[in-house]
Parts: sequence; structure tokens; C-alpha cells
Amino acid sequence: MSNDIFEPRRIIVTGGCGFIGSNFVHHVVREHPGVRVTVLDKLTYAGNPENIAGLPSDRVELVVGDICDAALVDRLVSETDAVVHYAAESHNDNSIADPSPFLETNVRGTYTLIEACRKYGVRYHHVSTDEVYGDLALDDPARFTEETPYRPSSPYSSTKAASDMLVRAWARTFGLKATISNCSNNYGPYQHVEKFIPRQVTNLIDGARPRLYGDGRNVRDWIHTEDHSSAVWAILTRGRVGETYLVGADGERDNITVLREILRAFGRPEDDFDWVRDRPGHDRRYAIDATKLRRELGWEPAHTDFAAGLAETIRWYRDNEPWWRPAKEATEARYRAQGQ
Ligand code: NAD
Ligand code: DAU
Repeated sequence: MSNDIFEPRRIIVTGGCGFIGSNFVHHVVREHPGVRVTVLDKLTYAGNPENIAGLPSDRVELVVGDICDAALVDRLVSETDAVVHYAAESHNDNSIADPSPFLETNVRGTYTLIEACRKYGVRYHHVSTDEVYGDLALDDPARFTEETPYRPSSPYSSTKAASDMLVRAWARTFGLKATISNCSNNYGPYQHVEKFIPRQVTNLIDGARPRLYGDGRNVRDWIHTEDHSSAVWAILTRGRVGETYLVGADGERDNITVLREILRAFGRPEDDFDWVRDRPGHDRRYAIDATKLRRELGWEPAHTDFAAGLAETIRWYRDNEPWWRPAKEATEARYRAQGQ
């Protein structure tokens, strides 16, 4: 166990209007009353200020801006105790259609943030993904650990891997006070309709058929976004500087199993979906071994009942159609153009 506790009073959350970043902002406001949050978000197609609307204005401030804007980042970082970096281009399919914004935001954006953090000696937490480790075979008993070699497959995951490498290099060469987390697939409220679970749920609400890639046997290791938030807070405040922690909740499921659970929730037959073109380079399986996080920081996930979490997430999309409706048609048009 680490004895040093870092207690930030002011934090910047980049990408705090996206899916996981906004859930983290809600988590901090609810669980850590002494902390003030500055959200730095460019409000791309994936960012929505509604995600943090209604939070107390003396606790949460939104700055609309780009993490690649060095002058803006310098000013904000000079006034904070810590940066928690979620902002990214996050969707694999988009990175195959056009990698360019992924290079810019995920690599140059990270570089811009860590340069400012090293200048002001500000603590930096880097939110990354299990996809940097590539994939595992379905019959492989192994899971990813902090020692697994990097082997990213997609333009998205290779830019995330590049950003992790920058952080590691800045920590070693410049003494950047950094921690890194690599988490598995999140689900929960505020997830964009381009992603697997929200896409199928909103298709079904619309009376359309879900769309499954390839043979449907690809495995993802699902974690509720609230558990990801508690893990990031634990790492930021109690993790050892310079260390990487894997975040996962033992939630491996193949896509067809998840889809059938969603179909059941809508009272639809289990084969009531369309097979569509597979994603090029589609990773087969992700699986996280979170032993280090559990043992060293005593972290435990609280939302381990996937069926209950999925039912609650479906309910959230049923209850919040005005939130997702504006993005639905453009998202499906993009997929149609790709044969998906
Ligand atoms: P998201 O696409 O829902 O949100 C990304 C947010 O970043 C949006 O609010 C967007 O406006 C903002 N943004 C994009 N470019 C920006 C820029 N240049 N400057 C400022 N803001 C910008 O993403 P997400 O799914 O919430 O993922 C958040 C982070 O977590 C990412 O770093 C991602 O790699 C990582 N992650 C995601 C998952 C997952 O399952 N979704 C799992 C592990 C790690
Ligand atoms: O593992 C963490 C990663 O999880 C994060 O780093 C990424 O930011 C996040 O987007 C997610 O990546 P995936 O590619 O795993 O998520 P996605 O929701 O796009 O797809 C999940 C699985 O479902 C994947 O095997 C592809 C499949 N799929 C996806 C869509 C959108 C389908 O079968 N049909 C679909 O319509």
C-alpha cells in the first residue's frame, strides 16, 4: 500500500463533456465535496455540455477549448493542482475512416498537456485503454497485465499507445509527476450512440434491427463507467507516481451474448439482428487482470452485476431520447456509408 495521499483542491478534467469524462465529473462532485473542477472540452461531435448541466457552478466550470491550444492549456494548468486527461478521439471505426484527428488530439494534445504539467510541476493522470496491448485469442488463458508488451492494432489504439509512451518518457526524462490507467470497455449513461451498446439499444427503440460485426464472437471486458471513475480517483490520489495501473472488473462477454441480452430486454427474438461487414483489423478479445490496482490501492468495483447495469443503461436511453436523438441519424448515415 502507498502511504502518500495526494489531495487536490482544483483539477482540470479534459474531455469532461464526453462519456467517461462527464461521468467522472459527476463522481467527483458527488464523492469529493472539497474539489473544484475545470472541464476543458472542445465539444467535438462526441462532446455535449448537457452531460454536466445542472452541476453546481461553484464546483464545475466549463472552458470550451482545444487541448492542442498551448497558450490556453498553459494558462489553465498554471492555476490547477492536477490534470485528469480524458479528451480523445475515441472511436475505432472513425479512426479507420479518417485517422488525422486522432493523431492531432490523441498525440499532439497529450504532448501539449504534459509540457504544461512539467513546466508547473502539476500532477497528471493519463486515461488510456486496454487496446494498447492489442488482442488475445479466444482460447488464450492469459489476460493483460501492466507487463504485457504494447501491440496496438488500429489507428485509434496506436495513437493512444503513442500518447502513453510520451507520458512514460516525460516521467522518466523530465520527472513529470504522472500516473497512467489502461481500462477496458465502459458502459453506462451518456455514451455516444456510435458505440456498441447505445447503438443497438437506440436502434431497438427506433424499431430498427441491431447490427453485429463479423461473427459476433469478439470479446470485450465490460466495466461500468462509475467503477472506472472510482479507480481513476484512487490512482490519482493514492497511486504511485510513475506507475501504470490496469482497470477492469472481470466482465468478459462476447458481443453476441451482450446483444442477445439487449434483445431479451426489448422482448425481441434472439436472432432479430443483421450481420454486417466486419471492422478491418477487428481485435478479437480484450481481458484485464486488475490485481495490481486491487492489491495496492484496495480498489474494488461496485457494479459487478452486468445484467442489472445493462438494464439500468437501457432505461437511461429510453428516458433520455432528447439527449441522443440529435446524433442518431448522422451516426447511422456514417455507418451505412461503411456498409455497417
Ligand atoms: P468520448 O468520445 O465520449 O469523449 C471524448 C471527449 O473529448 C468529448 O467530450 C470531446 O468533445 C472531447 N475532445 C475531443 N477532442 C478534443 C480536443 N482536441 N480538445 C478538447 N476536448 C476534446 O470518449 P470516451 O469514450 O468518454 O473516452 C474518454 C477517454 O477514455 C479516452 O481517452 C479514451 O481513450 C479512454 N477510454 C475509453 C474507454 C471506453 O470504453 N469508451 C475505455 C478505456 C479508455
Ligand atoms: O477497450 C476499450 C475501448 O473500448 C476504448 O479504448 C474505446 O475508446 C471504446 O470505443 C471501446 O472500443 P471498442 O472498439 O471495443 O468499442 P465499440 O463500442 O466500438 O465496439 C464494441 C464491440 O462491438 C467491438 O467488438 C465491435 C462491435 N460492434 C460495434 C458496433 C458499433 C458491433 O458488432 N456492432 C456495432 O454496431
